Amino acid sequence: MKVIKVKDKVEGGQKAFDIIKEGLEQGAKVFGLATGSTPETLYEALTESDLDFSDKIAINLDEYIGLEQSHPQSYHYFMNDKLFNQKPFKETHIPNGMAGEEELARYDQVLEDNPIDIQILGIGTNAHIGFNEPGTSFDSKTQKVFLTQETIESNKRFFDSEDDVPKHAYSMGIDSIMGAKKIILLAYGENKAEAVANTVNGPVTEEVPASVLQNHPDVIVIVDEAAASNL
Ligand code: F6R
Repeated sequence: MKVIKVKDKVEGGQKAFDIIKEGLEQGAKVFGLATGSTPETLYEALTESDLDFSDKIAINLDEYIGLEQSHPQSYHYFMNDKLFNQKPFKETHIPNGMAGEEELARYDQVLEDNPIDIQILGIGTNAHIGFNEPGTSFDSKTQKVFLTQETIESNKRFFDSEDDVPKHAYSMGIDSIMGAKKIILLAYGENKAEAVANTVNGPVTEEVPASVLQNHPDVIVIVDEAAASNL
């Protein structure tokens, strides 16, 4: 893994932007995308740029089960609001949180048809990637996941109350994420420091989902000073 330390999330977003720009120049067509606070500065840099994604494909990591696409906390809504409305892609794919479990095979097929060139990841305080919580098999494909209490508490800031946070999601699996040719993991803030240290320097274990990235040949970890403080 290559670790790049930046001073803050604005510089981090710019570094990730530069890698994506270079990837586009080298022919990248399929981009794996994440939601949450972390990629927002990257999406700002992309929307402010003149990069053209109109013949590119976006595939998102995950979606809450039970939220309509129009729900302001759905990941469909987030992606339209932060990126797709300003920067149209040829195709965008996000798991359908209103579908039944037939959605899992459908999403795996989307991934098989469109191998990801560059995958953007955030990381949970428990080192989850996508919504693959500690204990998830490294062999997992798209799956229905039960969010841990830690994740529900982290994400309640986006909802009116903790009770409103969905308890389940559809998420690309760890094996699906590892299939990307290049992976950029972004992490900012003190509350990510332990997860980042365990990911980069700890043993590779299913108890630390992001530690699997040590087994991938092309991972760039972009961290601010606070998130790098335990490295
Ligand atoms: C989002 C996702 C999650 C987040 C992680 C960090 O699509 O898959 O793994 O990246 O929970 O969230 P933030 O960025 O809000 O700290």
